[in-house]
Amino acid sequence: MAGGAFVDSGPAGKEYPGKLTLYVFFTCVVAATGGLIFGYDIGISGGVTSMDSFLQKFFPSVYEKEQRNKDSNQYCKFDSQLLTTFTSSLYLAALIASFFAATVTRVFGRKWSMFGGGITFLIGAALNGAAKNVLMLILGRILLGIGVGFANQSVPVYLSEMAPARLRGMLNIGFQLMITIGILCANLINYGTSKITGGWGWRVSLALAAVPAAIITVGSLFLPDTPNSLIDRGHDEAARKMLHRIRGTDDIDEEYNDLVAASMESKLVEHPWANILRPKYRAQLTMAILIPFFQQLTGINVIMFYAPVLFKTIGFGNDASLMSSVITGLVNVFATLVSIFTVDKFGRRKLFLQGGSQMLICQIIVGTLIAIKLGTSGEGSFGKTYAGFLVFFICLYVAGFAWSWGPLGWLVPSEIFPLEIRSAGQSINVSVNMLFTFIIAQAFLTMLCHMKFGLFYFFGGWVFIMTTFIAFFLPETKNVPIEEMILVWRNHWFWGRFISDEDIHIGKNVEMGKGKPKAEA
Ligand code: BGC
Repeated sequence: MAGGAFVDSGPAGKEYPGKLTLYVFFTCVVAATGGLIFGYDIGISGGVTSMDSFLQKFFPSVYEKEQRNKDSNQYCKFDSQLLTTFTSSLYLAALIASFFAATVTRVFGRKWSMFGGGITFLIGAALNGAAKNVLMLILGRILLGIGVGFANQSVPVYLSEMAPARLRGMLNIGFQLMITIGILCANLINYGTSKITGGWGWRVSLALAAVPAAIITVGSLFLPDTPNSLIDRGHDEAARKMLHRIRGTDDIDEEYNDLVAASMESKLVEHPWANILRPKYRAQLTMAILIPFFQQLTGINVIMFYAPVLFKTIGFGNDASLMSSVITGLVNVFATLVSIFTVDKFGRRKLFLQGGSQMLICQIIVGTLIAIKLGTSGEGSFGKTYAGFLVFFICLYVAGFAWSWGPLGWLVPSEIFPLEIRSAGQSINVSVNMLFTFIIAQAFLTMLCHMKFGLFYFFGGWVFIMTTFIAFFLPETKNVPIEEMILVWRNHWFWGRFISDEDIHIGKNVEMGKGKPKAEA
């Protein structure tokens, strides 16, 4: 392998004038709240499915099994396909919705895609809160899923287009921060509602999803569309004004012209879906598939969805289980802040490599700690100190994810596609993410039952593979203007071979890698 393979390809590009205006900051904060609905949902299902009243009403067979199995094999007591369908149906809906969302996002703008997502989620929350049977429950989940599909399609792209290149990482990660806040709120709400004795606590948990939905629905109405999308839809003057406003300077000609050039090029493309298969987009297509795939194969959602179930499995009581998931939720939020403040300084690669190594080590330790106590029979329990250690390493693992694959899994795909394939590329990203979220959600309880502690080694193996992949195949993208990203791929030791000089039309005033010096090399 070429020695240079490990070296960043070195961002090629230039820096446009302009500062971080208050206006752009606030629009990004509002747009990022789209992450709340996704996060709330991730966090709420695990807690709800561990509530006895919920199980008794909708999944009595699981409830009985849980009661009967009190002191037998810990690994298998929650294994039920029906129960996992409740959790995972949402992700299938989101997967399908993201393809429709691609067209809405491209044709009507990013803003309406967010609005549509918020409204659908709102209806889903109402249906779920009022659910009388499994059908209503699953129907509600499907509507929530459609909402998530639309929001996850439009929000990351919106943020990356609005942000000045040198702060793009920070502003984009606002989305992931909102996801983690959503998860934490859901964990806290579950903790509170599980104490409601009337057996309707789960209703409150599910219905409160309406709050984040209302935030993004109303918020999106106040959002302007991005200059990129405005130009692409023929509103050149509005785009120029918007660029002026968000960059806070008159000196916007260079960026504006590059956006127009990017849009003109995108107009030559009739079928973004067929186009994305062309060799010159091989790198982007590969990343659009592998990054979300790898993100899910870190195994993070085992913790996010099933933390309470998992903690119960390894012998924690009801209260301790829900409390421990509040702790992992807190770690998730605070560790995300680390990436916000470092991603544009150290770059994406360093975070990926550091976070990946940390996760791998923790997974090996967690698997081994469980193996020692529960072995393969699944019988046994943990003492207080031992359980404390276990939670500590799970937290360290969550922290590693929260400053690497969590935020970067949304940031990197949103910043690497040229305009002509951006919506299509993002919907591949969203749908692969949802597909594997679905698969993991659906398979986890069965996998735990069969693979036992080995499950942690299994995900650890994947983390090793993905970290190696990043080391060799992902060039650094920090500080590179989004419409010039093609230069980064052109300069990469591997992906460069798929792109010829004729493929590069953007930023004609910038020769390969010889633009104005960047703020920071
Ligand atoms: C992932 C989710 C995950 C969450 C955890 C997101 O980036 O897409 O699947 O549950 O991070 O914080």
